Amino acid sequence: MGLDREQIVELLNEKDPQVVSNLFAEAYRIKVETVGEEVYLRGLIEISNICRKNCLYCGIRSDNSTVNRYQLTKDEVLDAAKFAIDAGYGSIVIQGGERHDKAFARDIRKLIKKIKRLSRENPLGITLSLGEQPLEVYEDWFDAGAHRYLLRIETSDNQLYNMIHPSDPIHSFNSRVQALLDLKYTGYQVGTGVMIGLPFQTAGHLADDLLFFREFDIDMCGMGPYIEHSQTPMWSLRTLLLPPEERLSLSLKMVALLRLLMPDINIAATTAMQTLHPEGREMAIMAGANVVMPNMTIQQVRKEYKLYENKPGIEDDAAISKSRLEHFLNEKNIPIGWNRWGDSLRFRNR
Ligand code: 5AD
Ligand code: SF4
Repeated sequence: MGLDREQIVELLNEKDPQVVSNLFAEAYRIKVETVGEEVYLRGLIEISNICRKNCLYCGIRSDNSTVNRYQLTKDEVLDAAKFAIDAGYGSIVIQGGERHDKAFARDIRKLIKKIKRLSRENPLGITLSLGEQPLEVYEDWFDAGAHRYLLRIETSDNQLYNMIHPSDPIHSFNSRVQALLDLKYTGYQVGTGVMIGLPFQTAGHLADDLLFFREFDIDMCGMGPYIEHSQTPMWSLRTLLLPPEERLSLSLKMVALLRLLMPDINIAATTAMQTLHPEGREMAIMAGANVVMPNMTIQQVRKEYKLYENKPGIEDDAAISKSRLEHFLNEKNIPIGWNRWGDSLRFRNR
C-alpha cells in the first residue's frame, strides 16, 4: 500500500477513535486476505538471563546485580520442547541473553539437533533469539536446523540507538545492522522490531522504523511498548514517557501500519502489549498481527527473566499460559494454525 512518510506520521498522531478503528479494521482485512485468518503459535523458552550486554532499558542488563542469573539445563529445554510438540504449537522460540563463549555456541547447536531429533515425526520449527553473534555462529546454528532468527533493531535511528545503549563497541548500531544482514545472508527468515514509546522517540522516528523494515525487506516483526524498569538507568527518564494506554495505542497503530506496508510478513502480538492491557495481544491480532508466542518457560525461573516490570504470567506455568491464550482466541473466533510452522509468506514468495 502506498503510504508515504507524512501519511504514516499523521496516522501515528491520529486521535479520532473512528479513524483509528478504521485503520485497525483495514489492517485486519488485509491480513486475512493475504496471510489468512489463522494465528500461529510459537512456544517461547527463555533459556537463560545471562547477558553480556548492558542495554540502558533492560532489567536483565549485566550491571543489574539484583538478578538471580539462571541457565536452563538441556533436559529442561527438551521438556519444554516436548510440551510444545504435545500442545500442537508447531514452532518454538529459543530466547536468551547474548553470550559469546564457545561453550554457549556449541550447547545451542547440540540443543537444536536434539530438538530436531525429538520432533522428527512432525518437526518443530525453531526460531532463535540469542542476540548478535559472529557470522560463523549464525551459520553453525542454521546448519543444525534453526531457520528463523529474531533480532530487534530496537530503533532504526542511530542517534536514538546511542541514547538507549552504552557507548562502547558491543552496543554499536552499525554492528546491529550488520548482524541483521548476516542473518539474511545465512538464509534465516529474519525478524526484527523496535520498542515503542521510548523517551525522546517521535512519530517521525517510528515512521522511519516502518520504512526501515520495508527497505530491509524483513520477514517477521515483533514490536512492543517500552516499559520502564526501576533497576535500569532509563528509570530516571520515566517522567518523559507517554501514559501506558497511549503507548499501547501507538504500538497497535504500528502493527496496523506495518500490515498495510508489508501485507505478507508475520507480525507478532507481543507480551509487552499484554503488560499494558490484559488483552493487549488480542488487540494486536485485531490490528493485523498473526503470531503469538505463549511463554513455556518453567515457572521456577520466569520471575528472573524480567526485561521490564509487571511482566504478565510470572506465576503461571506453560499449561495455564496455553489455556488462557486459547480461551481468548476462541472467544474472538480466531482460528489457530495448530501443528504448522506458519512460515513468513514473504520469505516463501521471495
Ligand atoms: N521494555 C520493553 N521491551 C524491552 N526489551 C528489553 N527491555 C525492555 C523494556 N524495558 C525488549 C527489547 C529486546 C527484547 C528481547 O526485549 O526490544 O530486544
Ligand atoms: Fe541483554 Fe537483550 Fe537485555 Fe540488551 S535487551 S541487556 S541484549 S537481554
